[in-house]
Amino acid sequence: MSIKGIVFDAYGTLYDVQTVSAVTDKAFPGFGDYITQVWRMKQLEYTWLRTMMGDYQDFWACTRDALSYTLKTIGLTADQKHFDEIAEAYNNLKPYPDAKEALMALQGYRLAILSNGSPGMLDALTRNSGLDKHLETWISVDPVKAFKPDMRAYEPVHAQMGLARDEVLFVSSNGFDVCGAKRFGFRVARIERVTPKALNKEIRDASVISPSTMFKATRMRIEDIGHGPDHVVASLKELPTVLETMENAA
Ligand code: LAC
Repeated sequence: MSIKGIVFDAYGTLYDVQTVSAVTDKAFPGFGDYITQVWRMKQLEYTWLRTMMGDYQDFWACTRDALSYTLKTIGLTADQKHFDEIAEAYNNLKPYPDAKEALMALQGYRLAILSNGSPGMLDALTRNSGLDKHLETWISVDPVKAFKPDMRAYEPVHAQMGLARDEVLFVSSNGFDVCGAKRFGFRVARIERVTPKALNKEIRDASVISPSTMFKATRMRIEDIGHGPDHVVASLKELPTVLETMENAA
C-alpha cells in the first residue's frame, strides 16, 4: 500500500514551542528559559496523567494548569489578564523555518496535523501562522478524550480522513509520539532537531545544565523503549526524499 497522506504532529514538529520564550521572558525577565521548559514538560505530563487517570480535560486546560504550576515553583503570580496573555503564546507559536517550504513541496499528498491541541488551539495556531493554507485539515485528539501516545489518540486520522494505517506517513519530533504512532501502525519519520552528538557535547561542555539542555535531554531524544521510527531526518525539507525511498521500495 503506498502512502497517500502525511500527518504531522504540531507542537515541536511543525511549530517551535521554544518561541514562547519571547513572551515568558518579557513577562518575567530572567526566568524566560526556565518557565518555557518547565511549562512544556508539565503540559505533556498533565496530558499523560489525565489520560492514565481517565480524567480528560482538553489541551488548553492542560496548558493553563501547567503554566500555573510553573509560576508557583518560582513563587510568581500573574493577574488573570496577564496569565491569559502568557497562555495565549501557545496559540501564536512560530512554525519552524523549514515548515512552510516542506508543506509546499509535499502538495501531491494529503496533508494534515494530528495533535493533542484542542480544536480552538489548532484553529488559532494554523490560522495565525498561515499554515492553514497548505494543509487539508487539522485533527484534534479531543473527540476521543485521550492524549498521545494512547492508541485511541491516533484513531481520528482514519475517522476524519478515511486513511488506513499503512497509507499514512506520520511525522513527529517528539519521542513519545514517534513510539505511539509506530505502535499504532503508521509509518513514521522522526525529525531529529538535535543530534545525539550535539547533545552529548552540550551536556559535557556545560558547567551548569540549563533548563533548555535538560529539555533537550528528556524530550528531544529518541526513546529507548522500542517502537522506533522508520526514518530519521534532520529537517522537514528531507521528507520528499524519504517518500521517494519509500515509493521505490514498495
Ligand atoms: C502534539 C504534541 C505531541 O502536537 O506536541 O500533539
